[in-house]
Amino acid sequence: MNRLKKNWRLIPLFAVLTFLLTGCGNPTISALVPKGPVASEQFDLMKLSLFIMALVVVVVFAIYVFVLIRFRARKGQTGVPKQVEGNHVLEIIWTVIPILLLLVLAVPTVAYTFKHSTDYRQDPDALQVKVTAYQFWWQFEYPDLGIVTAQDLVIPTDKKIAFELISADVNHSFWVPSLGGKIDTNPGMANVFYLEASEIALFQGKCAELCGASHALMDFKVNSKSPDDFNAWVESMKAPTAIPANAQAGEQLFKDNCMSCHAVDVSGLGLGPNLNGFADRSMLAGVLEHTPENMELWIKDPLEQKPGNKMPAFGKEAGGPLDDNQIKDIVQYLESLK
Ligand code: CUA
Repeated sequence: MNRLKKNWRLIPLFAVLTFLLTGCGNPTISALVPKGPVASEQFDLMKLSLFIMALVVVVVFAIYVFVLIRFRARKGQTGVPKQVEGNHVLEIIWTVIPILLLLVLAVPTVAYTFKHSTDYRQDPDALQVKVTAYQFWWQFEYPDLGIVTAQDLVIPTDKKIAFELISADVNHSFWVPSLGGKIDTNPGMANVFYLEASEIALFQGKCAELCGASHALMDFKVNSKSPDDFNAWVESMKAPTAIPANAQAGEQLFKDNCMSCHAVDVSGLGLGPNLNGFADRSMLAGVLEHTPENMELWIKDPLEQKPGNKMPAFGKEAGGPLDDNQIKDIVQYLESLK
């Protein structure tokens, strides 16, 4: 009786856990809230497998409880009951049923696995995107559009995005839970798959393979736009950037200090992320809020913000060449890259 009373106290704990778990449905980063056809089909597979598991649990427990009650020791009963060993009919039944259940699960799983790894690289209706993972950031190239960008992947809705993914250093894994399952990026070996978004939103992406000190900070965004807005974005990326007069000092400092790694033209590649259109990106370095203050912090000492990343410190206090005013000028210039 005491034990029962003790266990009742666990109920509030479970109630709190229930509330916590209801938080597991963030619409921009949850496989349980699919926002595209690939994610929806994969969610269907999850539901099917959960249903089969639940069915097995319910049936097994029902038989278990029935047997417990039906064959319990009764009053006045003595000795060992009659022992039954082997029953061909039952053995066949409990071998065949799991085989059937596995078949029900296997057929759609195999079908979707092949479907979702379809190579759309030659499909003229698909948007081609090449992903290169770096410690600890993401580069996105649109080979047909002549655009290179980083951290924010901009895509149109209701169009297949044909991905070719590779890594520049160690193994990473490209994962946008709202749009579909993850895929590894390996050095020297391209992986191929496709995703599609059916809603306009800013989806969150993650690196899903332990890849070093800042693995947990290797975030990115997928910005899905209407087809018209996407075309407008492509045009704006290709248009020459007008640098305002108050950003020209910063532009010179950027050329002297940053350009050896960071390209700012539409299709430039470098050791670090291409910064064309940087002012419109949602985050800074994937994880910091995009504010001038955070940009100053980042340029002064990037290792402080993202351990293990390859950008050296530029602030004088961290041993770099630039004073606070020079860093402010560079931030002003970067904020003009719209
Ligand atoms: Cu890249 Cu983890």
